[in-house]
Amino acid sequence: MSNESLKYVPDAALKLLPAGRIGVLRDQLLSAAEETLKDVDLWQSGEPIPAAKQPLDAGFIQWPEELLADLQINRDKSLVARLEVCGDRLREAADSIVVLGIGGSYMGMRAMFEGLRSPYHNEQCRKTRGGIPRLYFEGWNVDSDQQQVLLNLLEQRADQHPDSIDGRTSVIVISKSGGTLEAAVAFRTFRELIERKFPKLAKSLIVPVTGDAGRLRNLSNAAGYEDVFSIPDGIGGRFSILTAVGLLPAAANGMNIRALLQGAADMTEHFRNAPFEENIVLQYVAVGHAFEMDLGMTTRVLSTWGSKLEAVGLWYDQLLSESLGKHERGATPLTVVNTRDLHSRGQQHQEGRRDKLITNLLPGRPHKPPITVPKHELDQDQLNQLAGVTMPRILQAAIDGTNKAYADEQRPTTDLVMPSITEHALGQLFQMLMLATVVEGRLVGTNPYGQPGVEAYKKNMQANLGIK
Ligand code: PA5
Repeated sequence: MSNESLKYVPDAALKLLPAGRIGVLRDQLLSAAEETLKDVDLWQSGEPIPAAKQPLDAGFIQWPEELLADLQINRDKSLVARLEVCGDRLREAADSIVVLGIGGSYMGMRAMFEGLRSPYHNEQCRKTRGGIPRLYFEGWNVDSDQQQVLLNLLEQRADQHPDSIDGRTSVIVISKSGGTLEAAVAFRTFRELIERKFPKLAKSLIVPVTGDAGRLRNLSNAAGYEDVFSIPDGIGGRFSILTAVGLLPAAANGMNIRALLQGAADMTEHFRNAPFEENIVLQYVAVGHAFEMDLGMTTRVLSTWGSKLEAVGLWYDQLLSESLGKHERGATPLTVVNTRDLHSRGQQHQEGRRDKLITNLLPGRPHKPPITVPKHELDQDQLNQLAGVTMPRILQAAIDGTNKAYADEQRPTTDLVMPSITEHALGQLFQMLMLATVVEGRLVGTNPYGQPGVEAYKKNMQANLGIK
């Protein structure tokens, strides 16, 4: 693994397990990894999928490599090139882009936007943003007030800047099934706005991303939009971040989607080839499994150090919950942001029930020159003793202090260390967590694909509305 590779450091937690405990899991983990990879062959073979394996959404595993190979061979006709062209087109057509979608059709892009863009991106003027459009997310809830505020804002912009990019909005609507009510209702309202405000451009300003069949596909065919992208069969919603679901909005947002794919492909290669002791996917699964089985640690806290990574944690919350929360089993994920949540959840993590394994997600090198504490003639706050100390240094003191406090109380912590928050590192991280989730499912005999439990609320909601 290079300096730019994601690293997993479980040493502090391992002190709380008997020596050699992880090694004991080696054969079971290798066989779960083998099953995970054999599923890729099964999926690609086109043979009927045995009932016990259904649903099987193993397509995400080799997908990044396939897209990069397609790019090498087919160049400007490849899917990556077509996504980049469409992304450029949207970026040059509209200064606001709204992504409509929910669950796996939204959370990954949100994680990339918050991780890679300024936290105040949408507040900045177009020049400061380097011509990168503002990005908004809707259709991920049923909140009339919130949606109304955004509709009004976009309408005002259109009125204030008629015939200019500053007033224009584009919509990327994402739904694999094409029938999810939250996204579908939002698409109606935003489509109405786009068609009313930009009647001549509407077909190019709206881009659907959907499965090959379903209501959104039918609607797209009927509407004749300039671009429509497919979500391939065999890649489930929460595993779809590196399909057009995440790649199109990422490209429109000026992100390097080739680096994202390369990071993910590198992680798959590492997973396939690295020995058990160095394989960060397998080590991560082994540690989580051992603490759950041996010590009843059923809550997995992803402790993100910096709010830029909170949405990565929320994306992971969905991945773990929907994949393994079945048959009255499966660890409970919980994302925290520190140091913020040290002042809310920290008490419980330090002294509450002993059911938590804490994984620190560390962001690596900062992107901006660090802030230092200024000296001041009024020293009643007694901070002149810190004058000249950088904020990253203060954060490191908090990280080390928190880990020590947990270790002193035999509370297990591990570190997942990013080299820096870049497209390549995020690609690695997403792929690592998706692979780990599937391997853990195979390890404990839970099919990680599909989410039958989500259907019950949908059925009741539709019945309550009289929807057929
Ligand atoms: O993982 C999944 O498949 C789900 O969480 C979906 O992403 C979510 O329900 C949204 O579905 P769709 O993309 O079909 O609108």
